[in-house]
Amino acid sequence: MTEDPDVVSRRIARESLDRDDPTGWFEDLYAAAADGDAVVPWDRGTAHQLLVEWINESEPDGSGKTALIVGAGTGWDAELVVDRGYDTTAFDISPSAIETAHRNHPDSKVHYLVADLFHPPADWHGAFDLIVEIYTVQALPIALQADAIKQVTSLVAPGGTLLVIAAARPDGQPDADVQGPPWPLTRATIQSFTAPDLRLIQLEQAPSPSDPTIHRWRAEYLRD
Ligand SMILES: C[S@@+](CC[C@H](N)C(=O)[O-])C[C@H]1O[C@@H](n2cnc3c(N)ncnc32)[C@H](O)[C@@H]1O
Repeated sequence: MTEDPDVVSRRIARESLDRDDPTGWFEDLYAAAADGDAVVPWDRGTAHQLLVEWINESEPDGSGKTALIVGAGTGWDAELVVDRGYDTTAFDISPSAIETAHRNHPDSKVHYLVADLFHPPADWHGAFDLIVEIYTVQALPIALQADAIKQVTSLVAPGGTLLVIAAARPDGQPDADVQGPPWPLTRATIQSFTAPDLRLIQLEQAPSPSDPTIHRWRAEYLRD
């Protein structure tokens, strides 16, 4: 393969977005990657560094608790969370991503499944003590982000924690200037994961070690 993987993934995304299918390209990309015809640019082969840091700082004890990994991709973040003792469910809209997760982690205790964030199973409502959302909302066009955020927040159990990791959009950059995917989240968007009973308790912005021009949010919310 000679073409830059970022160029390939952007082309696959653009074709899907141009036919008004904002989520179809994930399956196209993961399937192409499984055939060796593309590389999934965000697939790190390890858990996200900001999730690792949060786990190390918070030392959560997941015994007797449930966790949900949103847009879980090939499973690296879910495997870190399940190791903390949570009964962990990890879902993705792409069947090929979930197949790859099973292949990557054949002995896993994680419940991997195909599901659509916009149509989650009814019994997930308010059901999870920990929800981890990394880079899914920003992978959706800006017009879909408010609905995606509403769905994510609806799944947090009373007393539960929501952790969101996302690229941060520079203050003042208008929507029209963002050529996604991804569509990084503004401060207002990261603050919109809140509700009267879902409070933002920690918000940090840090430069990416691989590209310090990119900043990432790490936000933690607690449901009363
Ligand atoms: C940018 S990737 C991030 C993957 C993973 N969270 C990570 O950080 O490596 C976005 C993920 O969200 C998934 N996704 C996008 N829309 C979704 C939806 N409506 N429901 C479930 N998963 C979705 C994609 O298939 C993809 O795996």
